[in-house]
Amino acid sequence: MDLFEYQGRDLFERHGLPVLGGGVAETPQEARAIAERLGGKVVVKAQVKVGGRGKAGGVKLADGADEAQARATDILGMDIKGHTVHKVMLAETADIQEEYYFSYLLDRANRTFLCIASVAGGMEIETVAEEQPDRVAKIAIDAVKGVDEAKAREIVTAAKFPAEVSEHVVDIAVKLWQAFVAEDATLVEVNPLAKVGDGRVLCLDAKITLDENASFRHPDHEALVDQSAVDPLEQAAKAKNLNYVKLDGEVGIIGNGAGLVMSTLDVVAYAGEKHGGVKPANFLDIGGGASAQVMANGLEIVLGDPAVKSVFVNVFGGITACDEVANGIVQALALLGERGESVSKPLVVRLDGNNAEAGRAILDGANNPLVERVDTMDGAAERAAELAAAGK
Ligand SMILES: Nc1ncnc2c1ncn2[C@@H]1O[C@H](COP(=O)(O)OP(=O)(O)O)[C@@H](O)[C@H]1O
Ligand SMILES: [Mg+2]
Repeated sequence: MDLFEYQGRDLFERHGLPVLGGGVAETPQEARAIAERLGGKVVVKAQVKVGGRGKAGGVKLADGADEAQARATDILGMDIKGHTVHKVMLAETADIQEEYYFSYLLDRANRTFLCIASVAGGMEIETVAEEQPDRVAKIAIDAVKGVDEAKAREIVTAAKFPAEVSEHVVDIAVKLWQAFVAEDATLVEVNPLAKVGDGRVLCLDAKITLDENASFRHPDHEALVDQSAVDPLEQAAKAKNLNYVKLDGEVGIIGNGAGLVMSTLDVVAYAGEKHGGVKPANFLDIGGGASAQVMANGLEIVLGDPAVKSVFVNVFGGITACDEVANGIVQALALLGERGESVSKPLVVRLDGNNAEAGRAILDGANNPLVERVDTMDGAAERAAELAAAGK
């Protein structure tokens, strides 16, 4: 989960990192009130989860509350790289002398953590790395040893931070690592880390990604979720404990096992090329041993997606026997009927593996006009794509 800058700023503050006073506003009036509280000059910053806000006109200085309100009026509602601005952060202004770059991240390719630091901050680090590679230091961080004062000094030396800021940067490097670990982050990025007029070094931007796999030990992270960006279908699926991801196609997908569902997405996308470019509408893994209840919940979510024109249920019976799945589908359709959900979209079901014959017989016996049985994965994908194209 990516955080907004203002959430990152608060988190930095809680971990003792040097940040400037600030607040977040959703209206120009709120922005004005915050500017009054902060007093004097402020900076008004668009809160969108994308970089380069400054260049896009989403970061503006304001001299006093009137101007802050005016800048907030300009910025709220702006579109920055496809992201609409719903909130602005107001912060005290800094008298910036130099801009540096500092980050910790999980380096999956090298199975380690990495510190990237540069004295050429303020611009995108990718650009610096390309144009001035000698000004970007990359230092591997041992997951067990982490960043103590000695390691922090190694980083400061490698990145060639000026002597007059080195003690500040050492302190920040240690605290930032502590925050990174304590919050189970996979990225903390400060760009710019700025040297200001009075000699201090401040974190003037905050980009944080939290590891959602660790959310069970951070009940407080739930409050950081941007509810306005949560897909309602994904939210409903989560409430039902389903492994569901919304995609932007027309063929609803239900399968058992993440690997099978992933390859189902591929075959449907491939088959869809011949049928007007229809694509999978979602990922949904109902897991092994799926009961009628789970199948009903899955079907309810998938059929509840208005973009879905056909559904492909792809089950390979392993531990789960196909006859149980077939019973599940039949009962699920009945259950949905009882719940008053009108099921009107065609279902293509492919059953293979453990007890496939018995499962197919159950489907045939139920004789539901919406359910079509196709016994190969490619054949079923083809038919589901065809039906989706016809329903568009
Ligand atoms: N509090 C501040 N005071 C003065 N200038 C700032 C402040 N915050 C940011 N800036 C300036 O605006 C630039 C862009 O802001 P930043 O928060 O890094 O947004 P982004 O990285 O999305 O462009 C910074 O590089 C810095 O020069
Ligand atoms: Mg920045």
